[in-house]
Amino acid sequence: MIPFKKYIQDIKPYEPGKPIKELQREYGIRSVIKLASNENPLGPSGKAISAMRKAIREVHLYPEGSCYYLLTRLSKELDLDPAHLIFGNGSNEIIELLARGFLSEGDEVISSEMTFLVYPILSQVCGAKFKAVPMKDYRYDIEGILRAITPKTKLIFIANPNNPTGTYVTAGEVEDFLSKVPENVVVCFDEAYVDFVEAEDFPKMLAYVKAGRPNVVVLRTFSKAFGLAGLRIGYGAASKEMVDYLHKVRQPFNVNSVAQAAVVAALDDSFFLWRTKWLVVRGRKYFYRKLKRLGLEYLPSQANFILIHMKTDGQEVYQYLLRQGMIVRPMVAYKLPDWIRITIGRRSQNAQLIRLLKAYLSEKV
Ligand SMILES: Cc1ncc(COP(=O)(O)O)c(C=O)c1O
Repeated sequence: MIPFKKYIQDIKPYEPGKPIKELQREYGIRSVIKLASNENPLGPSGKAISAMRKAIREVHLYPEGSCYYLLTRLSKELDLDPAHLIFGNGSNEIIELLARGFLSEGDEVISSEMTFLVYPILSQVCGAKFKAVPMKDYRYDIEGILRAITPKTKLIFIANPNNPTGTYVTAGEVEDFLSKVPENVVVCFDEAYVDFVEAEDFPKMLAYVKAGRPNVVVLRTFSKAFGLAGLRIGYGAASKEMVDYLHKVRQPFNVNSVAQAAVVAALDDSFFLWRTKWLVVRGRKYFYRKLKRLGLEYLPSQANFILIHMKTDGQEVYQYLLRQGMIVRPMVAYKLPDWIRITIGRRSQNAQLIRLLKAYLSEKV
């Protein structure tokens, strides 16, 4: 008998958004728009592309295990000592390092329901129990999370802004929360979408790291605003002690050389970042206006996506849109069967999605 672990066999694998090529193959459609995985519709920055071209010539060599140049560049960008930073193969890898570093069978992890599905998966891989606290008005219930803490709690995940709701936890809520959380519980603030935030009461989490909070870890990624999802690179910011500890868990060459070079260059392309944020901010407003006109409810979002209440089977809407060459995200896995999540795209892509939703609704009546 192969010693499969029951708690691993019980895991429901993560289902990513449908790739464009898969839809082209399956449906024989050539023109496909993907607004499903919160990617950057502008592609990567030109500066990053040039840096990648150069870096490719050296892929016969192992990457720098310490990410030296990237570490120096990012440390300057964030005004944070390099010892506070650790890079990962996507910010997903930092989630994994935290799980492997802190969890054993029987431990508990707390987060919210309707949040990033990688938290329960990576907790379960380590045999930990994942507690999903119900949301309040589609927002993290911070008080509820505090009440759920037990002596077995090792890790808390807070996606801020949250995926898939786009809602956020305020600076005041975080301040109060951190004053009450026991110091032996690691709290991970996942800021994958922080570059799209406009809310003025959004917390400044790096200040907690700078102030030396030992149990706070902040995650960021280059997959979203920086348009580098395919390279798999993100980072964690935390106390020096925490970063040293997580380095012991990672593989020696966990971040590839092309990704390292691309991010160094992308950090210099502030115009690209500005264009991306502008596209998202303008796109959010466009969708709010059009969705209201279509009579559809949505959650105001601080991220580059919007959750839309279709008031009907979201899977059916998803399938309808697929047949028209438009990939969005159905929300069944998040226990939101009547909703779909759409990524803000380019202006013409957004308009096409609105046209298709309008056509769907008129066919329904
Ligand atoms: C909340 C959240 N955290 C982390 C990630 C993963 O990002 P990365 O591509 O850096 O692994 C995502 C990606 O969808 C996300 O939505």
